[in-house]
Amino acid sequence: MIARVKQLDLFVSPPLQVKGDRPTVDHSTTFIPNQELPIHRWFRYSAGFSAAWAGAEIAKYCCPGRSLVFDPFVGCGTTLIAAQHLGVASVGIEAHRFVLRIARAKLRWTSDVRAFESLACHVLQHARRRRSNDLPDVPSLISRIYDDDTLRKLLAIAAAISHAAPPKPDSPQELAWLALVAILRACSHANTAPWQYVLPRKRKTRVLEPFEAYGEQVALMAHDMRVCQLSAPTRGTAAALLGDARSCDGVADHAVDLVLTSPPYPNNYDYADATRVEMSFLGDVARWADLHYAVRRHLIPSCSQHGSKENLNLDELLRDSALDPIRSDLAATCCALADLRRRRAGKKTYDTMLAAYFAGMSCSWRALSRVVRPGGLVCFVVGDSAPYGVHVPVERWLGALAEAAHFEVLRFEETRKRNVKWKNRKHRVPLHEGRLWLRRS
Ligand SMILES: C[S@@+](CC[C@H](N)C(=O)[O-])C[C@H]1O[C@@H](n2cnc3c(N)ncnc32)[C@H](O)[C@@H]1O
Repeated sequence: MIARVKQLDLFVSPPLQVKGDRPTVDHSTTFIPNQELPIHRWFRYSAGFSAAWAGAEIAKYCCPGRSLVFDPFVGCGTTLIAAQHLGVASVGIEAHRFVLRIARAKLRWTSDVRAFESLACHVLQHARRRRSNDLPDVPSLISRIYDDDTLRKLLAIAAAISHAAPPKPDSPQELAWLALVAILRACSHANTAPWQYVLPRKRKTRVLEPFEAYGEQVALMAHDMRVCQLSAPTRGTAAALLGDARSCDGVADHAVDLVLTSPPYPNNYDYADATRVEMSFLGDVARWADLHYAVRRHLIPSCSQHGSKENLNLDELLRDSALDPIRSDLAATCCALADLRRRRAGKKTYDTMLAAYFAGMSCSWRALSRVVRPGGLVCFVVGDSAPYGVHVPVERWLGALAEAAHFEVLRFEETRKRNVKWKNRKHRVPLHEGRLWLRRS
């Protein structure tokens, strides 16, 4: 069964819809609208933003064939795919290998649909025939969230994909891989939290059968590829690089016309834990502790586990000259958090996380200053945070760091309020999310 597809204005609809006189909630800084969009809906990445909004901005500021769009925090590739669809060239960087692989697989929506369908058909036949009775050793999370029969089937699909030798460089194997990764959660009886964390002890009522789910996912993807290939005959080149936004290596000096991105927010969201189910199934990690070495240590610190694992030292971090423009405010906040850490049971290292976060973001601004052409525009989708209830004015401090790196702050467009329904909340600090616009001087 193929879910309903919005076929028109897929990538360029205005972000704010108005019903009568009342504007509806603006979801353009969230992944929610992507759940109905072809290509973008192939993998639910809750940290993503709206592809329709990204497409509208690219269409406004870029010329097909002439402009270059850059996303230093690619995630699942929303910006790159929107640019590709509009015929605009793009480049992006992502430091999380698994997430990068998803983005790269999605960028292949332009490839041969029939070749993908025939590979997927072969994979399913092979998996049905060769399903083994033995179960290999799997990470404990995986044995807790699947029953044996489901796990056997999923592993059979994975084995069939890796045995299908790629016939040519343009092989659809990565699409076949993505179709499997995309159904892993739906085939588990374990429930998930509102973000991507998994709750093995809570059971879902609706669990999909793996072979059927795989077939349906392939049908959905093939359908989306056909729709998008018809609606976008001219596509922009897109390259997603494994790398670090703090250096932007691989992107030429002053080559970029528009940066459309969303960095991590310092709000304790753990990008490593968010992909634990998939990475455990694929054998990339065996235990929770492996996530740090496989993922977290490559990222800009934005969760407390990062600070505690690396044993960061607050005084040393605060001495970093990259923090000069915000040092006194940041130091006061970090010291308040260090004090709270000593008194709170959780002992969360928000103090070092925050200092390391802004030092990392300062490096990113310097790198962006090198790659963006004078006059080029930058849009950061970002939200503030309140670890232990201490407010961190993220967009204001990011703006100050950007100004020190030769950017001019143009405006902050608030898109939504967060943490305002205070029932059962850990703290009562109103937060918001929005778009910080800047221009390279
Ligand atoms: C808010 S998400 C971006 C989501 C993206 N806009 C989308 O729609 O999918 C931020 C991303 O930055 C990545 N990231 C964190 N530190 C990074 C670094 N130092 N260099 C590059 N990417 C990094 C994270 O892995 C995460 O995928």
